[in-house]
Formats: sequence, structure tokens, C-alpha cells
Amino acid sequence: SHSSTHIFIILGASGDLAKKKIYPTLWWLFRDGLLPDDTYFVGFARSELTVEDIKAACLPHMKVTDGDTECLSAFFSKNSYLSGKYDDDTSFTQLDCHLSSLPGGADAHRLFYLALPATVYLHVSTNIRAHCMSRRGWSRVIVEKPFGRDLQSSEELSAHLSSLFTEDQIYRIDHYLGKEMVQNLMVLRFGNRIFGPIWNRNSVACVVLTFKEHFGTQGRGGYFDDFGIIRDVMQNHLLQILCLVAMEKPASTSPDDVRDEKVKVLKCVAPVVGTDVVLGQYLGDPEGEGYSKLGYRDDPTVPEGSCTPTFATAVLYVQNERWDGEEKHFFSCPHPLVPVMFLLHPSIIPSTPSPHLAPSPGVPFILRCGKALNERKAEVRLQFTDVPGDIFGERCQRNELVVRVQPDEAIYLKMMTKRPGIYFSPQETELDLTYRSRYKDVKLPDAYERLILDVFCGNQMHFVRSDELREAWRILTPLLHQVEGERTRPIPYTYGSRGPDEADDLMKRVGFHYEGTYKWVKPHPT
Ligand code: BG6
Repeated sequence: SHSSTHIFIILGASGDLAKKKIYPTLWWLFRDGLLPDDTYFVGFARSELTVEDIKAACLPHMKVTDGDTECLSAFFSKNSYLSGKYDDDTSFTQLDCHLSSLPGGADAHRLFYLALPATVYLHVSTNIRAHCMSRRGWSRVIVEKPFGRDLQSSEELSAHLSSLFTEDQIYRIDHYLGKEMVQNLMVLRFGNRIFGPIWNRNSVACVVLTFKEHFGTQGRGGYFDDFGIIRDVMQNHLLQILCLVAMEKPASTSPDDVRDEKVKVLKCVAPVVGTDVVLGQYLGDPEGEGYSKLGYRDDPTVPEGSCTPTFATAVLYVQNERWDGEEKHFFSCPHPLVPVMFLLHPSIIPSTPSPHLAPSPGVPFILRCGKALNERKAEVRLQFTDVPGDIFGERCQRNELVVRVQPDEAIYLKMMTKRPGIYFSPQETELDLTYRSRYKDVKLPDAYERLILDVFCGNQMHFVRSDELREAWRILTPLLHQVEGERTRPIPYTYGSRGPDEADDLMKRVGFHYEGTYKWVKPHPT
């Protein structure tokens, strides 16, 4: 490329996402010296604002310290703001003139961040393409969900974007892909000898992917109601994690090799069926304090009688060689030579399935997510099968490998050990890699910091490709249409609880063992 100047354009600069996430992220990257030297920031939105207004709105979210004063003014001196209309050509030719008028701006690389409501996506993307593309450098467009609300609308949006930009210009953000422990899944799986051989249906009893929040939708009820927890968290964050847990080893760590493997996983997942799903909606806790007294439907921005789920547990199956159940076509072989003959004359083999083997559906991937629950936690949990040939009188619990995404990043392996001391009996314990104690001085960057930096670098590994997006919607759209068509009533649960009991029953039914015996003990301080 010809230029070393970069311009980062925030469309929707006056909005919530811009002030809470995008501007602060740009500031941290700038402060830490991670951005290219000549980087300019341009805000664009409908309101008549100044950079001072933007600064005032963002400051509370920027974690500025006393030592930052000089750096902060350097940051804002690189900022400018322009108001305009999203559907107006003139506004975008003005934006283009402004970009070209910045030092080195005519040749600069341009990054467009669409921090906008879905309703103006089409106009804005069309106008960027028509008026604002870099002449001599590259242009990249960063988009945020909602990427449609079902398979069809998402496909329409994708078709629109691909009529304007090439796939390598489009950066679809799923900020969970920017989290430390989500990124770590690939290194854990493919950088260790010990996990590969057991990472399959022979040893894994089930996989549980959890997203829990201990707060409700307060303040976001209006947006959320139109969306629901399945679109808000399951379709994106949890399915992306599922891909990283279930995928085969990519040919290399190049972005498209990785994304090829992720999309293959999704292609092996059948649409979720209603009997494998539990939906919930929270009620206020009369004994609670503050917001927890309020149920989802007590929010004035939520329509009366809303059936929108704030909690969902769903079971998915990846029907490939690694994760599928017993072979469906099992031949009983009456004679040792039959297999050889079968290769020569397949027609002579009696195709009676063995009566001994009930086909099992394979390893269940349990996706659960919810608002207003008992805790905030996101984790990946692999529960392994029982040890065959028990000699300890059923006193051993299953091994579990847990990757805690947040809070308090950790990896731990639940395992049995001899109870220390004079005893000879098995006891539950853990191999524990808690980041806070193991990596005391390491600061983990925020997900948005990594991802925005990746856009500068042109690395799409942690961004969602259009075919992944399509497959994710394919898996969940029939369910969404069914519950919305039938107006299925979600099961009520209390603010601050574990969610509906029915979800635990479902997990049990598909084979997750919860014993409730494991106790994590805080290590002694050193
Ligand atoms: C967003 C959802 O994508 O992720 C929110 O729209 C949710 O509903 C948020 O609260 C959670 O992100 P994080 O990084 O706080 O876990």
C-alpha cells in the first residue's frame, strides 16, 4: 500500500456503542501506542456535535488517569466530527471531502465502523461505497450485530453488503472472538498432545457452553424485546464458541483455514428442535433489592404480555465423525470373511441392524444463556465419560475440563486423586490454572481492543465470515419462527435464580451429570 496514514471513521458517533465501547477502545489503543502513527478519527452522526461534546460523552467510559492528560489531548487533537444524514448523498460527499482534507488523507487507508441501528445499514453502506472509498489505500468496513433477525433477512443483508464490498473488506464483529480464553481454545486444543486423543465422542460425554449474567435487560428492554436471548447471545457468541470447541484442526492458522473448519462444524449441525429447548423469562424477586424486584415485563419499554425469552437452553448435535453417535447402520457379521466379501459384493450382506445397539444421538452440545441469573459467568465445560471398569465402588466423579472465559479467566481440570494422608480413597480435586495467580502482571486487553487492532492489521481470523453467519441462522431460524409463530410462553424464573428447573432436567436427560459434590478450595496465599 502507498500510504501510512489511517483514518478510522465512526458512523453513529453519538450513539451508545460509540461512546461506551468504540471511542474508549480507540483511546486505549492510542494511549498504549498500538495504532499506526498517523491515525485520525472521524465521527459522523445526525446530531450537530463538536469534538468537545463527543469527549464529554465518552470520558466517563475511558478510564483516564492523571498521568494521561497530555496523551489525551493528543488523542482528541486527532479527532474531528461531521454531522450529516445517513441517506443523503451530499452528506457522504462532504464526508469524503473531509477525509481527503486531513494530512495524508487523500491516499489514506480508511476503516469504517458502523455503530448504527440496523435500519440505516443499507443506506450507509451504499453511500460509503459510492462516495467514501479510499482512492489509493484500502477500505475496510466493520459491522456489528444485528446481522438480520433470521436466515432470510440475514441473507438479504449479506447479499447487499457483498454487492458493495468483497468479503475481505467486511469485518463482522462477534466480540466473544476477541476474548482471551475464547482465543485460547485453539492453542489449548492444537498446541497440546494430551487433549487431542480424548477430544471426541469416545471420551466426551457432553459439552456445556454457558453464558450467564446476573443483571436483567434494564434500560435495553426495547431493543432486547425485538430480539430475545437466542439472537442476542446464542446465535452468535455461543455458536462461535461451539465451533472452536468442535472443529477439526485447521490446515494452518491463516484466517480462512480457521474459518473453513468452523463453518464445516456448523454444516454438520441440524436445526434445533423444540423438544431440545427450554425457554425462560424472569420475574421480579419480591425479596430482592433494587432492579431485582423488577421482572422483565415490568420494564416500561417491554410490550405488555411479551413472550420474548431472556433465558434459553438448547441441545445441539454435531453429526460428523468426531461427535456423532453410534453408527446408524451396524451390520452383524456372521462370518469373519464377510467384511472382505462385503467390499467385493456389498449386495450379499444382510443389512439387519444389530439389536444390541440403540443408536445414540452423539455428544450433546448444551448451549445455555440467560439474563438476571444467580451469577455472571461464561465458560466452556467438557464433561468426560465415566471410567470404564470401576474399582472404587462408584466413588469417582467424572473428569471435567473447564475453560472459564469470564470473570476470572481460568482453566481447570476436575480430577480424582487419592485423599491425602493415611487414607486410600478417591477424592475430587483440580489441576488449576487461574490466570490471576499464574500471570500476575499480565494485563489482558479488552475484546474490542484486539479486534479493532486486527482490522488495522487486516487479520480476519477472529471475524465472522458470511457462510458461518448463514449456517448459524440456519440452525436457529426454524426454532425462532416456531416459538414466535406460536407465541410460546417462556417458563418464568425468579431474578437471581439459576433459571427454570426444566433446563437442568433437560441437561440431565441428555447425559450431563451434576453431582454437587465438588468444592473448589481457594489455594493458600503464597
Ligand atoms: C452482547 C449482548 O453481545 O454481549 C449483550 O448484546 C450482552 O446482551 C453482552 O450483555 C455481553 O458481553 P460481555 O463482554 O459483557 O460478556
